[in-house]
Parts: sequence; C-alpha cells; structure tokens
Amino acid sequence: MEIRTPRLTLRSARPDDLEAIHAVLSDPRATRWWSTPPHETLDQTRAWLEGMIANGPDHPDFVIERDGRVIGKAGFYAMPDIGYILHPDAWGQGLAVEAAGAAIDHVFQTRDLDILTADVDPENAASIRLLERLGFVRTGFAERTWNVGGEWKDSLYYSLSRAGRQAARSAEERRGSGG
Ligand SMILES: CC(C)(COP(=O)(O)OP(=O)(O)OC[C@H]1O[C@@H](n2cnc3c(N)ncnc32)[C@H](O)[C@@H]1OP(=O)(O)O)[C@@H](O)C(=O)NCCC(=O)NCCS
Repeated sequence: MEIRTPRLTLRSARPDDLEAIHAVLSDPRATRWWSTPPHETLDQTRAWLEGMIANGPDHPDFVIERDGRVIGKAGFYAMPDIGYILHPDAWGQGLAVEAAGAAIDHVFQTRDLDILTADVDPENAASIRLLERLGFVRTGFAERTWNVGGEWKDSLYYSLSRAGRQAARSAEERRGSGG
C-alpha cells in the first residue's frame, strides 16, 4: 500500500529499510521520549521492522520516504493508537503534519473507526503540538506509565474524532490559502 502527499510517500515497510530506520531509532535525539532507549544494534531494529512487516501490507503503518530516502515512520502499529518518528534532519519542516495527517485520513477513509488515540510524554512539546495541529484533544493523564531504560515516564492521553479531524483539515486549508 502506498500514499502520496505533496512531499512524501508513505508505504508498507520492507526488509531493505533496515539501515535507514536504524539511523532513526538509534538516534538519541529521536528516541528521547520514545517507548524504548535508542537501538544499539541492527538486530534490535531488524526485530522492530519485522514486527511492522508482520502486521501485513494492508495494515495502516508506514515508512515515510522523501525523495526516495526513508526518513521515519507514521501510522498505527496497534490500532487505534498513532505513532510517528522522524530523523532529526527532517524536523521542523511540517513533514510530520503531512505524514501523520495522511495516515489518519487514510484510516478514517478505509476503516469503520470513530476515534483514534495517542499517548505522549508530557515533556514532548513537539509531539504535543503536532497532535493538537492534527486535531487531537487531551483526554487524560497518568503517572508512571512507561519504564524506559529504568526511568519512569508519565503519559498524556489524546483522542481524535472524525469531526475533530475535519475541523483540523479545514484549518490547514485556511493556512494553505493564507486565510
Ligand atoms: C514529533 C515529531 C514527529 C515532529 O516532527 P516535525 O516534522 O518536526 O513536526 P512538524 O514540522 O510537522 O511540526 C508540527 C508542529 O510541532 C511544532 N514543533 C516542532 N518541533 C517542536 C519543538 N521542538 N517544540 C515545540 N513545538 C515544536 C511545529 O512548530 C508545528 O506546530 P505549529 O503548527 O504550531 O508551528 C518529531 O519531533 C520527532 O520525530 N520526534 C521524536 C519522536 C517522537 O517523540 N515521537 C512521538 C512519540 S509520542
């Protein structure tokens, strides 16, 4: 499966994505608020990638390509919870809005689901801002939800309805047209 956006291609993962995905998952800047510490070995990333591939070609979880290079992933490893990570070289250009937005719209178009969810570290300002821009609203907070490398992390919970997504898309269109 493949989705095209103005700057990106989202597609199912393949075994030969290993090196590019490892470059993302082994970067401590990218994994600072991820559910695992940075990957230290290619084998760790291979197991992670195999999990993604095992979900099957119709599952809405995607690697993100820009100009033929894999720069990260966006989608739903476990429905209905969204996850995304980009290589730091790609940050700050609106690419996560573009990629995650496309994955969300694909799911709402193809699945009989009314709510999508997200779980984010309260310190992860970029991810929180991204979720809000996509239309997610905060629904809860819990302490000590993840133990990552021996350190406890908290969670903010978010959800996105079809109507919330539609409102966010309309706001994007107004931005795009300068309104
Ligand atoms: C979260 C992440 C995907 C955002 O990617 P990105 O391509 O830089 O995001 P975008 O450029 O599309 O920007 C989305 C919004 O976040 C804001 N933003 C980006 N980086 C930010 C930062 N460090 N602090 C605050 N806001 C930030 C942008 O300004 C934009 O908001 P705006 O519309 O108000 O300007 C990226 O930072 C990342 O890969 N982080 C590591 C992985 C991760 O933490 N994943 C989430 C786990 S829940």
